Amino acid sequence: MVNKDSKILVIDDDESIRKVLTLTLQDVGYRVLTAADGEGGLKIFADERPDITLTDLRMPGMDGIAVLKEIKALEPDKEVIVITAHADMDLAIKALQLKASDFITKPISTTGLEVALERAQDRLSLTRELREYTRLIEKRWLDTAEELAKTYHFQKNLIESSIDAIIGCDPQGKVIIFNKASEAVLGYRKETVLGKLTIDHFFPPAKYDELKEKLYSNDYGGRNRLILYETSLVALSGQLIPAQFSGAVLHEGEEEIGSVAFFRDLREIRRLEQQFADQARLLHQDKMISLGRLAASVVHEINNPLAGVLNYARLMLKILKRGPVTEEYQEKFAGYLNLMENETDRCSKIVSNLLAFSRKSELDFSEVPINELVEKCLMLSGHKLKLANITSERQLEEKLPRVRGDYNQLQQCVINLIFNAIDAMPNGGKLIVSTSYSPSDRNLTIRVSDTGCGIAKNDLPRIFEPFFTTKSEGQGLGLGLSMVEGIVERHKGAIEVTSEVGKGTTFTLKFPAMS
Ligand SMILES: Nc1ncnc2c1ncn2[C@@H]1O[C@H](COP(=O)(O)OP(=O)(O)OP(=O)(O)O)[C@@H](O)[C@H]1O
Ligand SMILES: [Mg+2]
Repeated sequence: MVNKDSKILVIDDDESIRKVLTLTLQDVGYRVLTAADGEGGLKIFADERPDITLTDLRMPGMDGIAVLKEIKALEPDKEVIVITAHADMDLAIKALQLKASDFITKPISTTGLEVALERAQDRLSLTRELREYTRLIEKRWLDTAEELAKTYHFQKNLIESSIDAIIGCDPQGKVIIFNKASEAVLGYRKETVLGKLTIDHFFPPAKYDELKEKLYSNDYGGRNRLILYETSLVALSGQLIPAQFSGAVLHEGEEEIGSVAFFRDLREIRRLEQQFADQARLLHQDKMISLGRLAASVVHEINNPLAGVLNYARLMLKILKRGPVTEEYQEKFAGYLNLMENETDRCSKIVSNLLAFSRKSELDFSEVPINELVEKCLMLSGHKLKLANITSERQLEEKLPRVRGDYNQLQQCVINLIFNAIDAMPNGGKLIVSTSYSPSDRNLTIRVSDTGCGIAKNDLPRIFEPFFTTKSEGQGLGLGLSMVEGIVERHKGAIEVTSEVGKGTTFTLKFPAMS
């Protein structure tokens, strides 16, 4: 089948042959281009690029073999049919060797020409198909290569940007993956590790053996897997690093092809745990100190009413021993018993408050009624205030919303502030504790003011530091305010202080109110 646009170039110095061929070829549907010599033919070929060229072999000037060579050099896929005389079989064979698609002999028979053309057409379409197929395969190959490259880069990125250290090894344990986090944790550079060091290099020897044994055992996440296992790593500096290991031995079928390990650096977690434990210890220590002081003052507080109760009891016994109780005494007895009841009630309240305060408690959040809490703190400090000749005043706003918090810890806050105020007024003075609520910012405020010595400007920035104290040894440890600050922080509150030397100090605590 001949395409409509199929071009064919006829090169022959014999004009009559050109004419005959032109007519015959046009008749089968070709667009025919002609040239009378090799040079002219090549020019047309370069411009028009016909699929098939028919060239005479013997021509003056450039011969058919030269034309064939040029065309094949220019476009190897184009077909060239050579026209030869019977006597020129050698030349015809040479042309075939030079990749001519066929030869026809003069005088040209229509059948011979048709067969040659058909074969040339077949070869052309075969070449075209082959080219298309190759293009398709190449494209598919390129797509796959691109896809692979993308996946590879993505995975590489994933490994590189992991927060955990990732180390991959070949079956002999030689490191072949060592990501950025590994460099950061262990202090080694990738270049000094990859293909050079084995994984055991990063463990204390005993730890490595232990880990390997667990990795290959059936427990701890299954055979060839070990999950969230705590171990230690050895950094380049020799430092031991606590780490959490998760890893697996990789297989392809039965064959072990390597292993991969993920390490999480536990140093920061350990540091925070330590900090937390230290804080809890300090908090407890501070509480014990406050408790010691409270207990001392409470003893006095309880002693007086107890002495009163004892006196009344003795008096009543004495009267009873004298004989039957007269009506007059019965009334007096009722009065005494009333007083005794009041005093014992007061004692029992003080003791139960002290007990509640002393209980070492984990954070226990509940809805805290702040006014009641302030009253309790004042009651516990009552004796100390009296001894120090301090008058106390409470200005408590009614119907306050509650605060979500730990009752004990908030109490510890207020007690610490009251104790500091007492210490600041060795010659007596006035303590005001007030509470209020501001609907605009939904904050509840507790304010503790004293008319004491005040805080020196230089000391102000330091008073919340643990162990900062201006008190003499045995008087203060400097823990109170740092505890207050910690507790306030845990309650998402804020603390402020204003002070004037010689006039007094006000501490203000703010807590978000519950809706
Ligand atoms: N109301 C106050 N008036 C004057 N100075 C104060 C007042 N409250 C705190 N300070 C100053 O802040 C310092 C630190 O107070 P903080 O409560 O932390 O420790 P402390 O009272 O010295 O010791 P501790 O509370 O451990 O018994 C005090 O030593 C004191 O100088
Ligand atoms: Mg204090």
